Amino acid sequence: MSILFKHIWGTKLQEKIKMEQLEYFGIPSYIINIWKKNYSDTLLPVQEKAVRQFGLLQHGYSNNINIDEYRKISNPLLVVSPSSSGKTLVGEMAAIKEIITQKKVIFLVPLRVLAEEKYQHFQNLYQSAGLKVKVSSGDHRHHDRDIIGGDFHIAVIVYEKFYYLQLQYPGFLNNVSLVVADEIQLINDLQRGPRLENNLDCLRMRNPNIRIIALSAFSENTIHLAKYLGASVLFSSYRPLELRKGIVRNGIYQYIEHNTSITGKEVFFAKDDAFECNLASYLKATLSYLINNNESSLIFFSTKKEVRIWSRWLAEQFNLSPAKAAINELNTLEDSTSRDELISLLQNSIVYHCADLSRQERQLIEKAVRSCDIKIICATDTLSMGVNLPVNNVILTGQKIISKKNNELLLPNFQKRALTLSEVENMGGRAGRLKQQECFGRIIFLAPSLIELTAYQRLYFNSSNLLLPGYPLSKCHLYTLPAPVMQDKPFEGNAYQINEGYSDNSKTSCLALSALPAKQLSYSENFLYKVKPVKIEYDILTFILQRIAQKQNTLDGIYNFSKQDNERISNNFWHYWHYKFNKNITRKKMSEILRQLEDTKLVKNSSNIYYLTEMGALVVSRGICFQTYIHFRKWLENCCKNEISELEIIFLISTSVNGENSLIPSPVYKTTKFKKSAIGKWKKYLSMKILSLLFELGEDNKPIFQLYLNTESENKFGNGKKIDLKKYLSIKKTLLLFDWINGRELREIEEDYGVLSGAIQNIGEGFSWLSDTLAAIAAKIGWGEQRPADLNRIKQLAKRLSFGVETDGLSLAGLEIPNLTRAYIKKLVQQGYNNKECLQELTEEQLNSLLPERITFQVKQHIQRDAGKHKNIFLMKDSNQLSNKIKNNSIKTANGKTAKSEEIIKPELIINMSRPDKILFFQEEIPVTRINFQLVLLLTKKQGQMISYDEIIDNLWPEDEDATYHRLWYHLGKLRSGMKLIIQHKKITDSPEKFIKEKILKVFPGRGLLFDENILVKIEK
Ligand SMILES: Nc1ncnc2c1ncn2[C@@H]1O[C@H](COP(=O)(O)OP(=O)(O)OP(=O)(O)O)[C@@H](O)[C@H]1O
Ligand SMILES: [Mg+2]
Repeated sequence: MSILFKHIWGTKLQEKIKMEQLEYFGIPSYIINIWKKNYSDTLLPVQEKAVRQFGLLQHGYSNNINIDEYRKISNPLLVVSPSSSGKTLVGEMAAIKEIITQKKVIFLVPLRVLAEEKYQHFQNLYQSAGLKVKVSSGDHRHHDRDIIGGDFHIAVIVYEKFYYLQLQYPGFLNNVSLVVADEIQLINDLQRGPRLENNLDCLRMRNPNIRIIALSAFSENTIHLAKYLGASVLFSSYRPLELRKGIVRNGIYQYIEHNTSITGKEVFFAKDDAFECNLASYLKATLSYLINNNESSLIFFSTKKEVRIWSRWLAEQFNLSPAKAAINELNTLEDSTSRDELISLLQNSIVYHCADLSRQERQLIEKAVRSCDIKIICATDTLSMGVNLPVNNVILTGQKIISKKNNELLLPNFQKRALTLSEVENMGGRAGRLKQQECFGRIIFLAPSLIELTAYQRLYFNSSNLLLPGYPLSKCHLYTLPAPVMQDKPFEGNAYQINEGYSDNSKTSCLALSALPAKQLSYSENFLYKVKPVKIEYDILTFILQRIAQKQNTLDGIYNFSKQDNERISNNFWHYWHYKFNKNITRKKMSEILRQLEDTKLVKNSSNIYYLTEMGALVVSRGICFQTYIHFRKWLENCCKNEISELEIIFLISTSVNGENSLIPSPVYKTTKFKKSAIGKWKKYLSMKILSLLFELGEDNKPIFQLYLNTESENKFGNGKKIDLKKYLSIKKTLLLFDWINGRELREIEEDYGVLSGAIQNIGEGFSWLSDTLAAIAAKIGWGEQRPADLNRIKQLAKRLSFGVETDGLSLAGLEIPNLTRAYIKKLVQQGYNNKECLQELTEEQLNSLLPERITFQVKQHIQRDAGKHKNIFLMKDSNQLSNKIKNNSIKTANGKTAKSEEIIKPELIINMSRPDKILFFQEEIPVTRINFQLVLLLTKKQGQMISYDEIIDNLWPEDEDATYHRLWYHLGKLRSGMKLIIQHKKITDSPEKFIKEKILKVFPGRGLLFDENILVKIEK
């Protein structure tokens, strides 16, 4: 044990670590107070273990500590513990430790919703201490500039976006010393996992000194993951709140407890109260019991359709009291099918939660569940990761649907399969969350038939005999991770850290299989150490581009990688995923492909070493495939200047490979019985619709539509194939998104296309990213200079697709005021209120006549908070400044007497926030425009610091990408002449120009401006 530990804990290792004790590691007391207030006085087991045994807070500690030793055991660190065990604070503690030494931290998450949640969490906790928290996801780009410029303490970033930032702006990691990768078990996901692996590889390769802390829920591949990361594993099986896991059969719930392994039974209902082999009656009887206990339950189903059908059925079965608050709030959201369904379900305290709901609807439902108004929630696995909801029970119906997207056709193709152990853990982990419930939660499997009972026992309880009548339950054992890492015994030395030596980097250490006792070895092999996940690659060109980005840059290097056989692969932990190809790739073929990439200028070759060009890096970082790039490029080179349209761009994106891969529900899957006729009718409807739109808009002559029109008239493509389903789905997406950005009512879009609001939003967000990518490619080939108006159109379209608004609604949508939906934005714009300033001018009554009261309140709150942010800063600075001046100055009056400062020093610049039409300079008025006023505010906000021209321009014209210095100089000139007149008039100096330059506004040529710190500024409310 280290000296430091002895000093802090003495020998009483069994005592819980108190938050206060963290001061020994240099954590400031105000941060500890925040943790005490928001968490509790003590650390949870996983947090404690991280501090005691893995040197979480010793990292970089220079006092008496062998730093290398701690680095070895804590970098990288893989934390594996059950859901709701407090992993976030492990990351947070390490983050604070870095931030207090002026370093920066990135917190990676897999989903946009989680990014929002973590962003709010960090804001709430640390904003008061002055931490700058920023967030970035595919469609949340507001903070990107700050993140790239390093203006943050913690940046919460979605994985894919992080990859993009790494490749495009590598410098943004310069001052970053820690990356916390949350929910890293996502690396096992077929669709997103391989890219996440590239992401981590890129980070480790380019920034080997950045510390990585990976947080993972239970995952079958933990040891493989640890080996791949070269990480030490902190495993804690303890759940702060007990979770019972069991099966209901014949009305009896037989369970085993997660922490204690104690087994027991509860009678949920009498055997005769439910029918054999009837899931519905089992579910109803179980829920009756739980509702009687006043408990809430979350039921997971495989598909969105099932979720909606079952929730409707359950609403008919129970007569519960309505969740009034949620109903009222939902009534103020945009009219949609799902909103109506939810309102009707909430009459019975039931809801559903799936990707069909809009973001606002989902947030509202989560809020209602948090306020404990809801008794039954039916959900797909959208709720299975990281979300904190207070439910007592999770009921699992046992199957998960998977999309077999990794097939040649790349068409949606679904299949049902049993839940894996980790899925059960993660879904089940939503029950019994700390601080949300009092005693325990339950995972409940319903077994209305014997065959289901057997299957659940074998799959999830690791015993064929578990829970069979008459069998002693104590003999059963729960699936669990191997003992050595599981022990909650204090760490003494390096017992479980074996340096494997498979890496040249001697710093890496990891938990080796050979370190585990034989008994657990087979256990861990069964459950944790599966084979490498395999991905079949169909798109070899994109694959090679990605390999080159990962610095696999010779023909041999890439070829050998693609030829790795299973045996070599299993002994090689450098890579997590194993790739296979659908066709046999010869060396010759590979070299042809490389030449093709060279010809398209995505790759350059220097002495047989391949590098990505800037364009190549853009393609890889944006996650688009080679074919999409070629498709975009062709259009960019052929479309006519100043004639491009939104419809055309959306169609272009829809017909790209990436656009085609974005999923949209189609009637085919609803009506399999009448498949042929349904498809026929549906195709005809879409064809007619797009044709009439093209003629109406006069777009039919454009080459991009010509191919479609020709093939449509013959109903054949050039090679005689019928137009396939993919093309129709592309047309469907085009029409739907065209309506979406032109303000058509959500309900109408839903009914017209048979797609619910959540799916519409998702497609819009995906296409927004692709449109932004198109703009980035256009900018790279010189559109910024040659076709600025066209470039701007594509960029604006990207924003419109994300928000679903017309161009004049963009400014309001960009404010991201919660629940100010596109319908309200449209209403405000129609009344002529299309930006923040307009909203500021409106009184509450005026706003109330346009918006529901709740939304009015949120709008006002948002605007005030925004203004308040600036005011507070100014006022604080102002009062400090005044008092300092007063303290320091004993000012001589004309008659030589010393006068009290207040009597003589008058503030030299007075800004009255309620009079943005003027400022007072040496007590005289200078009339100003709105821009002038903002400029003065900005300068005073950063008084004494140089502000770059870019920053000033961004602040004054945030919406306008093309704002230039000329515009700034025009406004600055006006301000200066106002000042000059007053200085002349007051006869302050003979040379007012010089006075302004030296004493008021210093100019740093080519760089920026500085507002002198000695000017006394007063800001009045
Ligand atoms: N030291 C603590 N004392 C009391 N409560 C805590 C403490 N640390 C965390 N919590 C609470 O425990 C709950 C779960 O924490 P957290 O979200 O970090 O879990 P997690 O391990 O990340 O789970 P998941 O895998 O579901 O994301 C939160 O409500 C959090 O506020
Ligand atoms: Mg978590």
